[in-house]
Amino acid sequence: MTIKGAREEILRLFRQRKEEFVSGEELSHTLGVTRTAVWKQIKLLRDLGYVIEAIPSRGYRLATAPDTLIPAEIQNGLGTRLIGREVVYFEKTDSTNVRAHELGETAAPDGTVVVAEQQSGGKGRRGRHWISPPGVNLYTSVLLRPEIFPRFATQLTFVSAVAVARAIGEVTGLKPRVKWPNDVLLGGKKVAGLLNEMSAETESINYVILGIGVNLNMRAEQFPTDLRYPATSVALEQGAPVSRLDFARALFRRLDDTYFLYLEKGFQPVVREWEGLCDMIGGEVEVDYQDRFVRGRAEGLDPDGALMLRLPDGKLERVLAGDVRPV
Ligand code: BTN
Repeated sequence: MTIKGAREEILRLFRQRKEEFVSGEELSHTLGVTRTAVWKQIKLLRDLGYVIEAIPSRGYRLATAPDTLIPAEIQNGLGTRLIGREVVYFEKTDSTNVRAHELGETAAPDGTVVVAEQQSGGKGRRGRHWISPPGVNLYTSVLLRPEIFPRFATQLTFVSAVAVARAIGEVTGLKPRVKWPNDVLLGGKKVAGLLNEMSAETESINYVILGIGVNLNMRAEQFPTDLRYPATSVALEQGAPVSRLDFARALFRRLDDTYFLYLEKGFQPVVREWEGLCDMIGGEVEVDYQDRFVRGRAEGLDPDGALMLRLPDGKLERVLAGDVRPV
């Protein structure tokens, strides 16, 4: 067993036993490692912030846990059908989307989740950088292997937007909104961004990556001053911090629900939910699109997830990508 594997197993055992003590002997027997190796893992967990009581005659007991995103914590009683069956964790990486691409090229299963405490090269849409300081937010990429035509892959961005909105609503009681094509807003400011990428042949998809960044506990001074759009975090909007672990688990559950809704019932119910969350539908907007600005009335989404814009001359324009703002 790898060092990380042993650490995960110890945590799984603690979680199963809830408040009970687990003897060093049982830990070493279950993990198939020596008592000294168990002790080393306990020390590593303590270094991560876990408070573990040790009583010589009884063994070890988990007293309190820090807000980390390590796989054993995310998967404990998660109950999803697909999302998070495998969780790959990085304390620091350049981009979880890059790691997920690498996994996509291997036999990593459908629904594998990559999480990182921090990203040194977080990727945003249109080549932008996604600010990813350590320990405050959620940076995750979900690997999917859907049997759909490549042209429908953009539909999955709306699946993740709906899932993020559902998760924020569930954890905070706040009412998030969405903005085309891939933002989630709180109080009119961007709280989450989505970066959907794929690897495909002409007729089939090898894999899709749903990159999801949610600003959870970021403080006002951690946002750069030169952002193109106003941004916020869940903590700033609700006036109290949020557990990253609780939020991650809620998100993976809601992603599981929404993805199965999509697979079983198609894009329509997802579009309807998304449109119900989008204030710009039915209103006048301006889109920064292929180096020009187009104005019109946002009528809704077409089956490819393109924004349908009614131009002043009555024509309908299909906008596949761009930045939109109300006018
Ligand atoms: C955007 O709004 O521009 C999209 C931002 C997407 C950010 C997330 S964070 C996790 C995943 N890894 C990345 O490098 N990017 C996405």
